[in-house]
Amino acid sequence: MTDKHDVSDMPTTGHVWDDDLADLTNQPPRWWMLGLTASALFCVVYFLYYPSFPISTLGDHFRGLGGWTAIKEMEADKDEVDALRGKFEARLKDMTPAAILADDELSEYVRRSGKVLFGDNCAACHGQNGIGTHDKQGLFAPILNDDDWLFGGRIDDIHTSIVGGRQGMMTAHKEILSAAEIDTLANAIASSQPNSTPLFVEKGCSVCHGEDGKGMHVMGSANLTDKIWRFDGSVKGIADTIRYGVNSGDPQAHVAVMPNFKEAGKLSDAEIKKLAVYVYEFGGGEADAPAEAATMAPAPEAEN
Ligand code: HEC
Ligand code: HEC
Repeated sequence: MTDKHDVSDMPTTGHVWDDDLADLTNQPPRWWMLGLTASALFCVVYFLYYPSFPISTLGDHFRGLGGWTAIKEMEADKDEVDALRGKFEARLKDMTPAAILADDELSEYVRRSGKVLFGDNCAACHGQNGIGTHDKQGLFAPILNDDDWLFGGRIDDIHTSIVGGRQGMMTAHKEILSAAEIDTLANAIASSQPNSTPLFVEKGCSVCHGEDGKGMHVMGSANLTDKIWRFDGSVKGIADTIRYGVNSGDPQAHVAVMPNFKEAGKLSDAEIKKLAVYVYEFGGGEADAPAEAATMAPAPEAEN
């Protein structure tokens, strides 16, 4: 043993093991004692400040001198979140849907907060994330996450759809057309070539569906050339749509009503704007100048 570790004159407990191992009774180092005292103090303070021990006779517990509760802590967090939201909501209020969409920060905010709004108000009919819902007539409410739009996919079109609701109308043709005519039309449409029969124009289908059969957003009329079916796309299903129409009042007609959310007071202006942006950002939203986009597209070949 070196001098440094010579402990032969320190007091011991008197116990000796193995001939030369003894228990010293000197104080532990100062830093260690300070640490011990500090942690003991911390325990006492913590114990008194926070709710700690049960008082079983009262069926209660000691509530702590600091008045802390989990609820209060949550409310403080909520206030913080509300303050953050308030900042965004205040900006949203006076902006158009298009302006919100153009603002990165706000559209990010809407992408997050729109989910709950959409889930509460729209998903029952349109499906979570706008994937559409089905019933026996086909799609009960249109898919919103593709670029096939009845009423248009520009941000303002989508906004208008939510504000005022939508209700495409197609007349029943069972008393206007013969069975043979309906059959011819249904076959032409089933092969996505409505204009392969002159009946399409002669019988006025083109008035609503457009001369090219691609649908008109102002009418909410379907594109009949794209093999995307809202209702039953079989020849028989198409014939039934022609026969009974959509929202035509005929008892066998398809019923397709998008409720009006503004007048019904179900949603505030800001909520409707948020939903328009949210739906647009499903991915099917169209740019504001479809005419220009069309001229930039490669010249269509064999269009029919
Ligand atoms: C009761 C069912 C129902 C609810 C709820 C509903 N919708 Fe609709 N929505 C429809 C139907 C049906 C249509 C198609 C109307 C038609 O075919 O004429 C539609 C159409 C639309 C369109 C137009 C689609 C297109 O192709 O142009 C948009 C956009 C839309 N809904 C958004 C929403 C949003 C956002 C909500 C929630 C605020 C919502 N809808 C709630 C049934 C519903
Ligand atoms: C008054 C306007 C109007 C006329 C006239 C009209 N349609 Fe329609 N048609 C619509 C609308 C609007 C829709 C879309 C309904 C919806 O989805 O809410 C539609 C939908 C359809 C569909 C369903 C497409 C799908 O995706 O399932 C077919 C098929 C169809 N029309 C065929 C015809 C044919 C054939 C004629 C002529 C005999 C015709 N329509 C005349 C307005 C019209």
